[in-house]
Amino acid sequence: MSLQWCRNSLVFVFAGLMIASGQAAEPVLLGNQSCATSTCHGGVITSGPAWNHSLSTWIAKDPHAGAGLLLRDQDSRPIILRLNPAAADSDDVFDNVLRERCISCHVTVAAEDTRAGEQLPNAVLATGVSCESCHGAAESWLGEHVQADWHGDKRFATSTGMRDTESVIGRAATCVRCHVGSRTADGMVRDMNHDLIAAGHPALRFDLLLYNENMPRHWDASSEAENAFQQSAIRVRDVGRAMNLAASLELSAQRAVDHLNTRESVSLASNQVPWPELADYDCFACHQSLDFRRAESTVVSSGVPIWNAWSTVRQLAITPAAMASLSPMRSDAERIAKLLPVKAKEWRSNAVALASQEVSPSERLNQIRDELLQVRKLSWYEAAIQYLRLDAVQRDLAKDPDKAVVAEQLAKDLSMVEKTLRFDPDRLKNQRGRYHSPARFDVNKFLEAMNAALHTALNPASDASSAKSANSANTARNLSIFLSRSAASQP
Ligand code: HEC
Ligand code: HEC
Ligand code: HEC
Ligand code: HEC
Repeated sequence: MSLQWCRNSLVFVFAGLMIASGQAAEPVLLGNQSCATSTCHGGVITSGPAWNHSLSTWIAKDPHAGAGLLLRDQDSRPIILRLNPAAADSDDVFDNVLRERCISCHVTVAAEDTRAGEQLPNAVLATGVSCESCHGAAESWLGEHVQADWHGDKRFATSTGMRDTESVIGRAATCVRCHVGSRTADGMVRDMNHDLIAAGHPALRFDLLLYNENMPRHWDASSEAENAFQQSAIRVRDVGRAMNLAASLELSAQRAVDHLNTRESVSLASNQVPWPELADYDCFACHQSLDFRRAESTVVSSGVPIWNAWSTVRQLAITPAAMASLSPMRSDAERIAKLLPVKAKEWRSNAVALASQEVSPSERLNQIRDELLQVRKLSWYEAAIQYLRLDAVQRDLAKDPDKAVVAEQLAKDLSMVEKTLRFDPDRLKNQRGRYHSPARFDVNKFLEAMNAALHTALNPASDASSAKSANSANTARNLSIFLSRSAASQP
């Protein structure tokens, strides 16, 4: 039987392991060769169950497999040279930038590899983001993993060290360590700060629904656990946003702690933790047009920078005042270091609650409508998030055969909404190498398009009889009041 073969081939791995492990604090990474035999996870993609060719699928299709080697390509080079110009003339300097600032997220390595040292062999980079980055260091679980009774929830008990990638919460927690960032997980610094972004790294904007969907399946997509992801797009998106928020709060808190600890004893440049960290704030509070007529259409901060809006906007029931209290000030590291872990914990439990909540498309449509009625102005981020919420509704409607027609129409309307969120292409052309801001974002155009989309979704039949229903007449009128109020405030 194949499982038996699998076990036999692992005996050798263990023989090596006993000698190597010693008293290491962190469980040891065994590398994906320990999963690679054809009877375990290295089978041929076209045959057998998904688990039998997970590794082959990862090699052939997964963006994570190439994440390490891309650090040597022409997209990475300019980022590295901007972080340290001396890297242009020295391979050692270049590789130390990779070690200290890149490989924690791009390669499955141990914490000690991320400290300055020798040049990085390409073989290390070729590891990419491998199995153990998501499933946990195998030293602690490989033994039990090959036993016949290895199934069910007990696989993910804390004692096994195998990460829970199955539940919505567990999977989100796995991804956010890199896709939002973290400074504590397994002793690693995975920090996408403003230095890296300004050097040219894409700002990270994690969305559980999309990223999970875009990851090539090296697992059984029809399993029961996968239902939680397929049933409700609304829920997956909500949980993802709450987990994103918890992770950003934790990252920010840890920045404060690390800043307080390293302030006095600055040695390595990479150990300095800037404070306050610009990436904690709403990007467009600073990156905005200085033309005051343009400023009218976006929400511009009143001099006090606000928390990065990707993670906290009122759809998560955080008021602007609450948001301001999360924002770090220059002399504020101690307060933030204490406050934010508490908030992060709150948001993780909120995420757990959201994971078992059922929100129907019609319920969500009404929520979006009511929220749009309440706001006077909408920043680009807030608008983008309302768009994503409506997008999730569309996905859920599309699953219901009875709603196919309205889902299709809503998809068309959504593409119009999306157009209003796009940045001005002429400006993009003229400002190459600059950070693009939605300076020309026109909130009225956005609301008009949202109004049309909501109208479609809330009046599915769109024939004379349903248009007369009290509820729908209300919607149209209220939203148009809102639109004219915004329009009137234009100069
Ligand atoms: C906090 C984790 C993290 C760190 C640190 C990090 N990256 Fe990334 N990087 C990512 C993630 C996640 C993506 C994918 C972004 C996306 O598509 O959402 C990415 C994408 C990239 C891309 C774009 C690849 C593409 O397909 O367009 C390049 C290039 C890159 N990183 C290079 C670097 C370099 C060079 C460094 C170090 C100077 C670095 N990264 C540090 C997480 C990180
Ligand atoms: C970027 C994260 C990530 C990486 C890297 C990754 N996995 Fe997975 N893996 C997942 C997720 C998510 C699931 C689906 C949930 C589950 O079944 O646990 C999964 C599921 C699996 C399963 C269960 C398959 C099934 O149908 O029961 C196996 C086996 C597996 N992975 C093996 C591997 C191997 C081997 C590697 C390395 C070559 C790897 N994974 C790399 C995230 C990852
Ligand atoms: C160890 C860090 C790490 C973890 C954990 C991780 N990723 Fe990634 N992910 C990356 C990096 C780095 C890239 C960029 C690779 C590239 O562009 O080739 C990336 C790229 C991706 C992409 C492609 C993005 C694009 O723009 O095309 C998807 C999708 C993705 N990850 C999904 C996930 C999901 C889902 C999880 C959790 C189950 C996860 N990742 C966990 C580091 C990680
Ligand atoms: C507190 C103000 C502030 C905040 C908040 C801020 N930045 Fe910046 N950013 C700056 C300044 C100042 C520069 C340097 C501009 C220059 O020298 O041209 C800069 C430069 C950059 C650059 C370099 C390219 C360019 O446009 O010259 C990028 C990219 C960038 N920021 C992206 C971001 C992103 C993404 C965020 C949000 C996560 C963000 N910034 C938040 C002030 C800020």
